[in-house]
Amino acid sequence: MSFAEKVVLIIGASSGIGASTAIEFTKVGANVVIVGRKEDKLQIVATECKKNGQDPLVIKADISIDDDITRIVQETIDKCGKIDILVNNAGIVRFGSILKGNLMNAFDEIIKTNLRGIMKVTTLVAPYIIKTKGNIVNISSVAGQSVPKHPLFTSYVISKAGLDIFTKATAVELAPHGVRVNAISPGPVYTDIIENMGLKLDEEILKTFEQIKTALNRVSTPEEVANMIMYLSGNKCVGVTGSNFVLDNGMLLT
Ligand SMILES: NC(=O)c1ccc[n+]([C@@H]2O[C@H](COP(=O)([O-])OP(=O)(O)OC[C@H]3O[C@@H](n4cnc5c(N)ncnc54)[C@H](OP(=O)(O)O)[C@@H]3O)[C@@H](O)[C@H]2O)c1
Repeated sequence: MSFAEKVVLIIGASSGIGASTAIEFTKVGANVVIVGRKEDKLQIVATECKKNGQDPLVIKADISIDDDITRIVQETIDKCGKIDILVNNAGIVRFGSILKGNLMNAFDEIIKTNLRGIMKVTTLVAPYIIKTKGNIVNISSVAGQSVPKHPLFTSYVISKAGLDIFTKATAVELAPHGVRVNAISPGPVYTDIIENMGLKLDEEILKTFEQIKTALNRVSTPEEVANMIMYLSGNKCVGVTGSNFVLDNGMLLT
């Protein structure tokens, strides 16, 4: 599958799934725009992309800030002229529960990135993606389809359930313009997501993660998710929109 001449905007590309997605897309000729808050990590990803012959546009930005989102879209259009594929991958986990008294703090922080930020990005990118008849892939989670395994995950689960509905609503709204919108719901994947929670891994948190089981008894690599993103956004999937692909090693079966 070739993505030559395609412009792929990846929101949340400084580590994990987004970083792998950028690297994999450059292997098949795409021009990638990589976005995140940590410039040092973005530069490491950019170096890997350059090894594949593509020099990515690096944008240090925080999608919980509206002005940053405006700048992401403006810089992408100024430098690349168009957007063919939007990968809404940015996401954070914060713990909070009713009885711990920190549910609303976790909710407010998570929603600003995982849902409101992604919705705002999509809103500003939509006019450009309509021009290219491109497509959007949202990175959700199996968490959005299940009762939280632990109350500490409540806000994260709500954000991903919201993203699942947003995916379908956007698919309906943009379909008449020839734009496809899909989601991928991973189970556990080896990434920087726990490190990025800024948590000390105490006994309670370790126990929380130990409760995560998969039927195949394995954890995915970020490349596995990147491959599914490329499949969904490529021309083999012209008839797929409003779908939510589960890639969870059978976690929902357990
Ligand atoms: N790892 C898993 O087990 C798993 C399972 C299911 C779903 N997911 C989902 O997969 C997606 C990618 O996560 P990951 O596992 O690859 O974790 P990760 O390594 O922590 O990557 C998250 C990416 O999002 C970016 N990001 C976070 N907040 C941002 C903000 N406000 N503005 C701009 N960029 C932001 C981070 O960059 P900066 O820190 O530089 O801002 C980073 O590039 C997330 O949506 C996550 O919910 C992960």
